Amino acid sequence: MRTQVAIIGAGPAGLLLSHLLAAGGVDSVVVETRSEEYVAARIRAGILEHSSVELLESAGLGTRLRAEGDEHRGIYLQWPHERHHLDFVDLTGRSVWVYGQTEVQKDLIAARKAAGQEIHYEVSDVVLNEVESERPYVTFTDKSGNKQRLDASVIAGCDGSFGPSRAAVPAAQTYERVYPYSWFGILADVAPSTDELIYAWHPDGFALHSMRSATVSRLYLQVPNGTDPQSWSDDQIWDALATRLGHGQDGWKLNPGKITDRSVLPMRSYVQTPMRHGNLFLAGDAAHIVPPTGAKGLNLAIADVALLSKALIARVKENDPRLADGYSDAAQRRVWRCTHFSWWMTTMLHTSGDPFDAELQLSQLRWVASSQAGATGLAENYAGLPISY
Ligand code: APR
Ligand code: PHB
Repeated sequence: MRTQVAIIGAGPAGLLLSHLLAAGGVDSVVVETRSEEYVAARIRAGILEHSSVELLESAGLGTRLRAEGDEHRGIYLQWPHERHHLDFVDLTGRSVWVYGQTEVQKDLIAARKAAGQEIHYEVSDVVLNEVESERPYVTFTDKSGNKQRLDASVIAGCDGSFGPSRAAVPAAQTYERVYPYSWFGILADVAPSTDELIYAWHPDGFALHSMRSATVSRLYLQVPNGTDPQSWSDDQIWDALATRLGHGQDGWKLNPGKITDRSVLPMRSYVQTPMRHGNLFLAGDAAHIVPPTGAKGLNLAIADVALLSKALIARVKENDPRLADGYSDAAQRRVWRCTHFSWWMTTMLHTSGDPFDAELQLSQLRWVASSQAGATGLAENYAGLPISY
């Protein structure tokens, strides 16, 4: 097989890249280890930044998002006895949209299918070959067990944190921070008890009230690393959420409901640089991981792909290497901004048990909630900087 861009991974980064390349007249073939059903059903984060929404919309992927997504002006920040609303629209002129990554993924699959995109699901033994040469190629075993070779001008590594692409960049510099806590996430069939997300600091640990729709809530609790999600009863989960989210505070109530999914997510920050080696380019989780506080993971993947698609179109179609040569540096600037923001939100909101840390966190939360400068800093980062930041 031969194509212009061989894309490894059919997550949001890989599929959006194939979509934007096709719009620019560049062909691609996608290979993915999982099945289409698995990829379409994975539950991930749920917030789209202003720029992500604009990009999806301009790529013709905004119809269901606009119809079924929910625009939010901001978030609530809270700690015991206080809840403050930060209005991003007033502060920065930018809003965010609640629309699950699962839905973005389904929209991408539908759009690529409609366009006849070649996607090989359920492949194995994916190997990147000769990425330093002008003729890189990917070898893999297809779903039927046949060995395949895919030749390309460029390989795009969009295979997330466990894929082979990141290791195909030799002598890469890596940066990592592992946090001493995890998120226990639940999905529940109950109307959200809030109009916008609540990020709550509490001595027992952080809690987040998010949502997926008018009838589905998504909630998280800070828990120790290694927590078994089955070790908590439903009542224990709802009691902890009620306590941390301030049930009873100023008459606010948390409505419990049927829990339909539960999982524990470890939290880590990871950055690998450069995001390019020869004719291999990395995008999304293949190059960086952020902890989920602040919902940057999907948005960063979208921003990488916005830059990379332009760079590859110029490179492949016009033989102009300039954007491709600048891709890693341009992407890293935003990667580090989001890495800092996610680390900052995480360390401001998660309790460590140290009373000194707790007082610093509360002082910072009070400042963010009461100062125009503090609130604007959070809002600007949360609602997201322009893609070209
Ligand atoms: N060959 C082909 N595909 C692979 C391989 C491989 N060897 N290994 C992994 N993959 C696939 C995974 O199965 C997955 O579908 O690559 C895809 C990577 O997708 P994501 O993990 O969703 O990563 P990305 O597209 O970069 O999206 C980033 O996803 O993990 C969240 O928080 C993250 O929201 C962010 C977004
Ligand atoms: C989610 O809805 O899954 C979500 C929302 C906000 C975050 C993280 C996750 O910061």
